[in-house]
Formats: sequence, structure tokens, C-alpha cells
Amino acid sequence: MKTIFVTGGAGYIGSHTVLLLLESGYRVKIYDNLSNSHLEAVKRIERLSGKSVEFIEGDIRDTDRVANALQGSSAVIHFAGVKAVGESVSNPLKYYDNNVLGTIELLKAMKQSEVKKMIFSSSASIYGNPQYLPIDEQHPINPTNPYGRSKFMLEQILRDIYDTNRGYSFGILRYFNPIGAHPSGEIGEDPQGIPNNLLPFITQVASGKLDKLRVFGNDYDTPDGTGVRDYIHVMDLAEGHLRMLEKLDDNSFDIYNLGTGRGYSVLQIIKTFEKVNGINIPYEIVSRRAGDVPVSYADVSKAQKELGWRAKRGLEDMCKDAWRWQLKNPKGYRSSM
Ligand code: NAD
Ligand code: UD1
Repeated sequence: MKTIFVTGGAGYIGSHTVLLLLESGYRVKIYDNLSNSHLEAVKRIERLSGKSVEFIEGDIRDTDRVANALQGSSAVIHFAGVKAVGESVSNPLKYYDNNVLGTIELLKAMKQSEVKKMIFSSSASIYGNPQYLPIDEQHPINPTNPYGRSKFMLEQILRDIYDTNRGYSFGILRYFNPIGAHPSGEIGEDPQGIPNNLLPFITQVASGKLDKLRVFGNDYDTPDGTGVRDYIHVMDLAEGHLRMLEKLDDNSFDIYNLGTGRGYSVLQIIKTFEKVNGINIPYEIVSRRAGDVPVSYADVSKAQKELGWRAKRGLEDMCKDAWRWQLKNPKGYRSSM
């Protein structure tokens, strides 16, 4: 049985992927410093899967600790990192330290332990303002903030390592907008403080924690004037990692967009959430948010063709599952403490 070393495995996307890995017969070691997650997520993964996970609390910048922990693993899925775009603008050093330096230390540890396969979490934010739609993997790269730049720097670092060292295999996955939760409502996204992203904000308005949603702009050149994004169910995203893992061989470097290929506007999201959950979402239109792009959605044909993967879950599932998670866990993972 293969052991997969999952950095950031207690986090939002990591926890859903770990669950699928266990259900697919892999052994999993999670390495996470719990800076943006809770051990409770790991307990729930174990409960849902009926299998145990080895959890190691640690920082990816602690090279020796990572190298020790890596022993016996056949591949790394690397989710660990910081991801708030606004914070990356005000505190870029945190992003270059955690994401860029952290990944470099992880790569050094992999070299020491002779683990040569990695799946890396990249982001659609590296494309910047789309020059054409849908966005394919050849689209020019132009990140507009330090978070996006940290992700692109890492893609380049991985490419350089691949080009000069035989035997490495890298799968780079550029996620569009992951939302939703496991259908059990046991694991999901647990943002700290007031959420920045649309879906967590909507679920907190729905639960009465926040009074109304602010819709950032209705004067974009889109059918209803509000921003359009490619929202993807986190379980579909997790399945994409399984397909990528199966494809990693002893010498490969691949980049894939993971999205649905469909764009929905903010108002469409609100309406769908209201309809499927029978809840009213009060909102007001405010001015555009600085740095937002009008429209973004993926060309997913490469992942379909080469990974045999496609997103199966629709927007209604995403909205229902996000709400179930919120209802069952009004205070996120702290609800069960
Ligand atoms: P998350 O914050 O829920 O998970 C990240 C995990 O990494 C957390 O458990 C955190 O405690 C851990 N971590 C952070 N820094 C660490 C460090 N130095 N050492 C060890 N552990 C550390 O985020 P997520 O939404 O699950 O995102 C996972 C990855 O996907 C990130 O790299 C993120 O940049 C990328 N990504 C996320 C999105 C998104 O919308 N959620 C979109 C594109 C890309
Ligand atoms: C943002 C990041 C992106 C990151 C992604 C997931 C920016 C510029 N980009 O993407 O790098 O990968 O989060 O973490 O920040 N909206 C509202 N009201 C709200 C929140 C959002 O109207 O309270 C709108 C936004 O204007 C946008 C859409 O909802 O049109 C989605 O926003 P969000 O969930 O923040 O994701 P992105 O901006 O696409």
C-alpha cells in the first residue's frame, strides 16, 4: 500500500483529498502546522473513512523534521501555504516566506529522503486579468498580487528542478474557485474571522452571523453586471488529485486547470443558494473590489483528455453541501469543542 505525504492535509482542500485517498486504499501521513486548521478535521476524516491517519504537527520550513517524516512515502501532495490575496498585498514577506521558502525547504527534504513525486496546489490567480476565455493552460501568466506571484515562482522552481534532475515527477494543478463541502457535512471550509470569499460569506449571512452580503459591483460587462467565476465542488477537486496521482510516473511535468469550464455570476450564486436551501440572502450592491477580474472560467479539456477527469457536481450540489456544513457546524470545527 502506498503512503502519500500530504502537507496542509488538515485544511479545506487537503481534508477532502485525504478522505478520498483513504477511501481509495492509500495510507496517508498529514504534515500540517495547524496555522489555519484544526485537529478535529483529522479526527472526522478518520471517523468518516473508518481508517487511521498519521498526523505530524510541524512546519514545512523545518527541513529535518519534514525529511524524517517523509521516510517511506511514495509521493507528496503539497497543499500547505497561505492563501489570502489581500493579506499578501499588505504582508508580502509572509507569502514569500511561507509559500516560496516553505516549498524550497520541502523540496530539500524530499531530496534528502529521495521522494521525487509531487502534486502542487497552484491557482487560477496566476493568470491575472484574462486576455481570452475560457482560460487554457497556455494563457499568458500575469499574477497581480504577491500570493499569485508566489504560486507562479513555485511553478518555475519545480520546472527547473525537473529539467535538471532525472526521475522527478510534478503535477501542477491550477484550481479555479473551490466551494462546497463533503456531503456528510462533517468536513468543510472553516475560515477564520470574516470570510473574504463569496460562499463562506453567503453561508454566514444565511445563518444570521452576518447581516448582509455586499455584492462587489454590478457594472461589469457580464449578463447581469456582476462578476463571473468558475466555481468547482471541493469533492470534484479532490478527485482531480486522485487522477493526477495515478498519472505521475518517474519523469513527468504536467500542468492542468481544475475547474468546471462554466462561469456563474454572483447573482446566480445567490439565487441558486436561496432556491436550493429555501433561505433568503439579503444583499446590497456596493462598488467593485480592487483587484477583481470581471470574468474567469477554465478551459478544462486538457484535464479531461489526459487525466480522464471532469467535474461532476453542479452548482446546486455546491450550494446545498456548503449550507449543510454550516448548519451542522455553526462555529466550524470549534462547534465540537
Ligand atoms: P487551507 O488554509 O484550508 O489549508 C492550508 C493548510 O496548510 C492549513 O491546514 C494550514 O494549517 C497549513 N499550513 C499553512 N502553512 C503551513 C506551513 N508553513 N507548514 C505546515 N502547514 C502549513 O487552504 P486550502 O483552501 O485548503 O488551500 C490549499 C492549497 O490550495 C493552498 O496552497 C492554496 O494556496 C491553494 N489554493 C486554494 C484555493 C482556494 O480557493 N481555497 C484556490 C487556489 C489555490
Ligand atoms: C479570490 C482570489 C483568488 C483565490 C480565490 C480563492 C482575488 C482577486 N482573487 O478569487 O486568487 O484563488 O479567491 O481563494 O482576491 N464577491 C462579492 N462579495 C463578497 C465576496 C466576493 O460580491 O463578499 C464576488 C467577487 O467580487 C467575485 C466573486 O464574488 O466576483 C468571487 O469572489 P471570491 O470568492 O473572493 O473569489 P475570487 O475573487 O475569484
